[in-house]
Amino acid sequence: MAKKKRIGILTSGGDCAGLNAVIRAVVHAATEKGWEVIGLEDGTAGLLDRPLRYRVLSKTMFDTTIMRLGGTILGTTNKGNPFQFPMGDGSMKDRSGEIIDGIQQLGLDAVIGIGGDGSMAILRKLAERGKFGLVCVPKTIDNDVGMTEMSVGFETALYVATEALDRLQPTAASHDRVMVLEVMGRDAGNIALSTGIAGGADVILIPEIPYDINKVAEKIIHVRDKEQRNFALCVVSEAVKTVEGGAKQMEFRGGEKRYGGIGYYIGEQIAEKTGFETRVTVLGHVQRGSAPIPSDRLVAAAFGVKAVELVAAGKFDRMVAWSNRQVIDVPIEEAIASYQQVDVKGPLVHTARMLGICLGD
Ligand code: F6P
Repeated sequence: MAKKKRIGILTSGGDCAGLNAVIRAVVHAATEKGWEVIGLEDGTAGLLDRPLRYRVLSKTMFDTTIMRLGGTILGTTNKGNPFQFPMGDGSMKDRSGEIIDGIQQLGLDAVIGIGGDGSMAILRKLAERGKFGLVCVPKTIDNDVGMTEMSVGFETALYVATEALDRLQPTAASHDRVMVLEVMGRDAGNIALSTGIAGGADVILIPEIPYDINKVAEKIIHVRDKEQRNFALCVVSEAVKTVEGGAKQMEFRGGEKRYGGIGYYIGEQIAEKTGFETRVTVLGHVQRGSAPIPSDRLVAAAFGVKAVELVAAGKFDRMVAWSNRQVIDVPIEEAIASYQQVDVKGPLVHTARMLGICLGD
């Protein structure tokens, strides 16, 4: 009798809505094929520990509750690259061998990794070194993975950020205020641009388009004086630079850096240059924590099923992708190489301009 296939699944990098829906789809599709699915805990971190941290996932665990939940039931990490693992004494160590040993101990025929570009690059290197089959599912609220129109989590983040603008608008109008909303996105302005269009912003600042703060101020003054509106809404992407060209980042213990705070900087500049009362909201991780909206659940389900089919076909080193209303697969290497920032000549930038939205230039 042929050996029952045993596959591993892990979530890696920052969490987002829809990860549990991918896990569920993989477990369902793999169970249909009579395979066993091992859930690896905390990305690759669970494979560094001894005893190994994992759990057997069965279809019965996946009633319809889990797919509705945000986060990931397996846990995740966006720290600790195993090829350069920070040790307690400040040194770095290559611990990739321990992860590969863990995969071998578990007898995994293949691994399905749900991650963004950084995680996929690490998993690919591990798969090459450990000679195991790897299929990846793109997930990121930033929607910056190349070669796919959709990544799990983006649509929900967009929904949350747009809802935030919907909530800011009436309070802005009640108090004659300018509201600045800072959103995430890392080095890509995808969340900011889409949110700004969907939420009726007057100004959208993204890292792909350098801004002139005087143009931003002019637009806000125009809104009040010429359009006779008593409020204005501005969306600012977290990686937008200061006028002097610096990034607003926080540095945490251990040297980890994260964007955050540019909204306050822009808000101060707007208040100074326009004289209008201005308030700032930094949305932060709220964008990641929601239950997945239907479109993310659909993408998650389709991606999970496709990932299992690729494993069944022995088609490895591939990432599932959404393209032209189809679920396809592309080389992981190429997807990582084509980092997807906002296309400044693309339809959304054009739409924003035609709506009279100021992009700062
Ligand atoms: O990549 C997803 C993301 O949410 C970015 O938009 C953001 O810059 C970063 O992760 C925040 O990371 P952390 O969860 O470590 O604060």
